[in-house]
Amino acid sequence: MVEIKAVGVVGSGQMGSGIAQLAAVHGLKVWLLDSDPEALSRAKTFIAGNVRRMISKGHISQANGDNALSLLSYTTNLEDFQDADIVIEAIVESEDVKKNLFRQLDRIVKPSGILASNTSSISITRIASATSRPPQVIGMHFMNPPPIMKLVEIVRGADTSDETFLATKALAERFKKTVICSQDFAGFIVNRILMPMINEAFHTLYTGVATKEDIDAGMKLGTNHPMGPLELADFIGLDVCLSIMKVLHTGLGDTKYLPCPLLVQYVDAGRLGRKRGVGVYYYRDAAKQAQPSARL
Ligand code: NAI
Repeated sequence: MVEIKAVGVVGSGQMGSGIAQLAAVHGLKVWLLDSDPEALSRAKTFIAGNVRRMISKGHISQANGDNALSLLSYTTNLEDFQDADIVIEAIVESEDVKKNLFRQLDRIVKPSGILASNTSSISITRIASATSRPPQVIGMHFMNPPPIMKLVEIVRGADTSDETFLATKALAERFKKTVICSQDFAGFIVNRILMPMINEAFHTLYTGVATKEDIDAGMKLGTNHPMGPLELADFIGLDVCLSIMKVLHTGLGDTKYLPCPLLVQYVDAGRLGRKRGVGVYYYRDAAKQAQPSARL
C-alpha cells in the first residue's frame, strides 16, 4: 500500500485550509496551493490562529502545534506538487475547471501519486477520465469544517483501484475520521439526501410558507438538527449548494432536483453565504444596512 507522507492541497478556501491543517497536525508534510495569493494569505492566518487555539485549549501540545506549522508550505506553483504522495483538490465546484486541474496534476505529480477530489457531487469517473491514471483517482469528501467533522465520504470511480481506496481510507483514519464508501453517482450519499432538503427549505421560503427564522427553528427543534437548513446553506456557501443541485438534476435526470429560483437569484446577486457576509442571513453591519425588505 502507498505510504502517505506528503500531501498537496489545491484550493485554500473553507475546505482546503481545513484539510491542510488536519494533515499538518497529524504530522504530514503539506503544500497548500491557491491561484489567488490573497486567499493563500488568509488561509495562513486562519490555520495559524486555529493551531494556536488548539494549543491553548490543550488539544495538542506546543511542540505538536509548532511542528504542524513548520510542516506547512504555501504556494501558487503547481510544480511544487511533484513529490506529493496524494493531492487533495478543493477548488471551485465546476467539472470543467476540476478536469483542467487534474490534467495538469497528472503531468506534474509523480506516477505513484494519488489524485483525490473533495468534490461534493461531481463524477469521480469523469474527473479521472481527464488523467492517464484513473485507478489512482478517488473522491475524498470531507465535511465542513474538516478539522471538526467526524466523517469522510470516500467515493470510488469506475476504475479506482483497491490499493488507492485502502491508502485513502488509511489516511482518513489517521486523521481520526470515520469512513463511509459511496459508489460514483451524483451527490454520493450525504449530498444526495442533504441538498434536496436545503432546496426544499428555499422553496418553503420562496412560496411564503414561513420566515427563514421559523423554517430553521422548525428543523432544529422539531427534528433535532444542530443547524437549520437555511443557516446550513449559508455555512456551506449558496454557490456550492446551487452547483450540487445542478449536478443532481443533470446526473440523475429528475425534475425534483431543479434548483429553487430563490437559491438561483441569491447566487446571481452574490449572496453566497457566510464567506461573503451575506446569504439568506446577514453577517456584517455594512451588509445589514443594505438589507432589502423582500422575503428576508
Ligand atoms: P471556497 O470558495 O471557499 O474555496 C475555493 C478556493 O479555490 C478559492 O480560494 C479559489 O481561489 C481557489 N481556486 C479556484 N480555482 C482554482 C484553481 N484552478 N487552482 C487553484 N485554486 C483555485 O470553496 P470551498 O467551500 O472550500 O469548496 C471547495 C470544494 O470543496 C468544492 O468542490 C466544494 O463542492 C467542496 N466541498 C465544500 C463544502 C462546503 O461546505 N463548503 C463541503 C464539502 C466539500
